[in-house]
Amino acid sequence: MYTYEELRAFVSGCTRCSLSQTRHHSVMGRGNLSSGMLFIAEAPGQTEDQNGIPFTGRSGQIFDQMLEAAGMTREEIYLTNIVKCRPPGNRDPLPQEQEACMPYLKYETLLIRPRIIVCLGRIAAQRIIRPDFRITREHGTFLERKNVWLTAVYHPSAILRDPSRLEESIADLKAAKEKLKI
Ligand code: URA
Repeated sequence: MYTYEELRAFVSGCTRCSLSQTRHHSVMGRGNLSSGMLFIAEAPGQTEDQNGIPFTGRSGQIFDQMLEAAGMTREEIYLTNIVKCRPPGNRDPLPQEQEACMPYLKYETLLIRPRIIVCLGRIAAQRIIRPDFRITREHGTFLERKNVWLTAVYHPSAILRDPSRLEESIADLKAAKEKLKI
């Protein structure tokens, strides 16, 4: 078992896939290591690649808005991505890139020991919940695996594209927060 700081050092110097050749910074997860709630998104974008901090671009503003409306702050949760380096041009991370990065996510999860995992968007939901997960149909549904609740909400960038999804996403997050009390 590694410490969180060891894990951060591995991620920072990682060369397990070719995304390491085009990144400026790898982006380790952030937040409260004792949180019961782990958010998993897709991959860093341009802003995150530049500053090394997850969800600090436009999607991050939507994420913060969603969190606040659901009565949470970043200090209370932990937020990370499936893939820790930016895919060029913000394309979807390839299966082999996701696979190469998975040990880091597994260690983050082991260290945090969340009670609920909230996938942000299709890529994370298909990786964590089920390969054929349909985000449009199944967001806000819950599944229990090894005593951990799993759920998914729309990715903030999907809300940017269609703001009518904001209200239901806030409702999904509120429902996820309620699960922490069970
Ligand atoms: N989109 C993501 O999925 N993750 C980030 O950290 C930023 C944008």
